[in-house]
Formats: sequence, structure tokens, C-alpha cells
Amino acid sequence: MTSPEKKVAIVTGACGGIGRALVKKYAAQGLALAIADQSQSATESLVSEINQQGGEARSFAGDLTDRAYCDNLPMQVFNQFGRIDILVNNAGLIRRGKITDTSDEDFSSSMAVNVEAPFRLVRAAIPIMEKAGGGSIVNTSSCWGINPGPDHLIYCTTKAALAAMTKCLGRDHAHQKIRINAVCPNEVNTPMLRTGFKIRGLDPEDAINKLNQSVPLGRIAEAEEIADVIAFLTSDEASYICGSLVEINGGKAVY
Ligand SMILES: NC(=O)c1ccc[n+]([C@@H]2O[C@H](COP(=O)([O-])OP(=O)(O)OC[C@H]3O[C@@H](n4cnc5c(N)ncnc54)[C@H](O)[C@@H]3O)[C@@H](O)[C@H]2O)c1
Repeated sequence: MTSPEKKVAIVTGACGGIGRALVKKYAAQGLALAIADQSQSATESLVSEINQQGGEARSFAGDLTDRAYCDNLPMQVFNQFGRIDILVNNAGLIRRGKITDTSDEDFSSSMAVNVEAPFRLVRAAIPIMEKAGGGSIVNTSSCWGINPGPDHLIYCTTKAALAAMTKCLGRDHAHQKIRINAVCPNEVNTPMLRTGFKIRGLDPEDAINKLNQSVPLGRIAEAEEIADVIAFLTSDEASYICGSLVEINGGKAVY
């Protein structure tokens, strides 16, 4: 078990762009980390990187489309660390296209990763947090969950569901001292964005340079800038923020 005074955070999608920036930040702040992502080798290599730098992390690899994995993860983390202070539902899946381009598989896997997994993880984490006297949860929604961007029907739909879920949760569990919020980034320089450009046959560097010009601040976000906001929302400094959808968009609104 971890030292009892150390806060413990579960981060899903921990090996991706935003997740990785977040767990690095949490490790630097002295939190103990449950590293959740799909690939065992990726989670284990991130865990050894953090532990070699003096942090404390353990691997909880699994597929978020697996209901049992989601239902059991919070208790597994609690059993190994002895507490859970923070849950960040950061993993996400993006599928491009209008409704007529969206397959049954696009629909079901996007719903499973972006909506059902956070639902299951939060449902399992709340009783543990309540028993401990409180906690903090952040869901990674998107600007496109507030106002939909073009040609991403299922992504926008799932991120809007996650935004609505966050507002419900924020209200329903405040009395248990569990603060639940969401971050809603616009474009962020991560593998998700770069892979999307590659799939469309675009050079990621050229596409990002072009995209930078569409942002009033002059550039898209770096993963660390989203991690900073998540870390703030889960910290005691955000003690009165509850049920909020925090847009992080460099001044670029989606409408
Ligand atoms: N990059 C952006 O422009 C952007 C904008 C707004 C919101 N977001 C959201 O931010 C979050 C993080 O995205 P990112 O940009 O870091 O993307 P990313 O692709 O770099 O990371 C996503 C992570 O989620 C994990 N994941 C996906 N499906 C999974 C599954 N079935 N089981 C377990 N893990 C799974 C992936 O393995 C990956 O490590 C996502 O929810 C995304 O929708 C990203």
C-alpha cells in the first residue's frame, strides 16, 4: 500500500497525449498514480519511467470497452493503494464522418469508450470516495461536446453526452463532497489530432500550421495546457468548482 498521506489518482488514456502530460504533472506534485490505458506494454513503460524518476505509479491496463474492466477498476486501485482521491476519465475515441458515414461499430465503440466507460468508472468510484469523505472527478469532454464541429457526428454526440453527464453528476454528488467537472478543449497537439490528419492524407505539420491561424491566440493547445487545467480542477484550489464545463480554446469558439 502507498503512504496514507499521498493522494491517489486514476487516469484513463494515461499513455496518450493529454493523459501522459497529466500523469507527469501529478507525479511531480507527489501523487500516486493508477495508469490506465489499453496497451500493457505502454502502461508498464510509463509506470517504470515515473517510478525511475522517484514517483509512484502502477499499471492497470485494460480495454474500456470491456464492461467488467471498468466496473472493477476503482476497487482494484483502492485495494492496491488504499484510497482514491481523483478519477480522470481522459481516454477518448474519435471517429470522423456524417451520420451516413458512421458504421454500427463507430457508434458502439465511441459510445463505449466516450460515454459508457466514464459512466461505469464514476458509478464504481463514487461509493469509495464517499466513504473517504470526498473526492474529485474530471471528464475530458470537448468544445465539440458544447457546440458540435462539422463532420464528426458520433464524436460530438458522445462528447455532448459526457458534458451532460458531468453536469448531472456535479449536482447529484456535491453533497457527498465529490466535485465533478469536465474540461472541453478545442484542438490539442496530440497523437489523436495528428493521426486524424494522417488518415485524411494530410501532413500533420502543415495541417497544424494552418490550424494555428484559425485560433485567436495564434496556435492550438499543447497537451500540458490541458493537463494544467485538469490538475487545477482536481486540486483543493478548485474547491468551489462543481458541475462546470471548462472550455480551453485559445479564444476559438465552435459556432
Ligand atoms: N486532441 C484534441 O484535439 C482533443 C480535443 C478535445 C478533446 N480531446 C479529448 O481529450 C482526451 C485525450 O485525447 P488525446 O488528444 O490525448 O488523444 P490520444 O489519442 O493521444 O489519447 C487517447 C488515449 O485513450 C486511450 N484509449 C482509447 N480507446 C481506449 C480503450 N478502448 N481502452 C483503453 N484506452 C483507450 C488510447 O490508447 C490513448 O492513449 C480524449 O477524450 C479526447 O477526445 C482531445
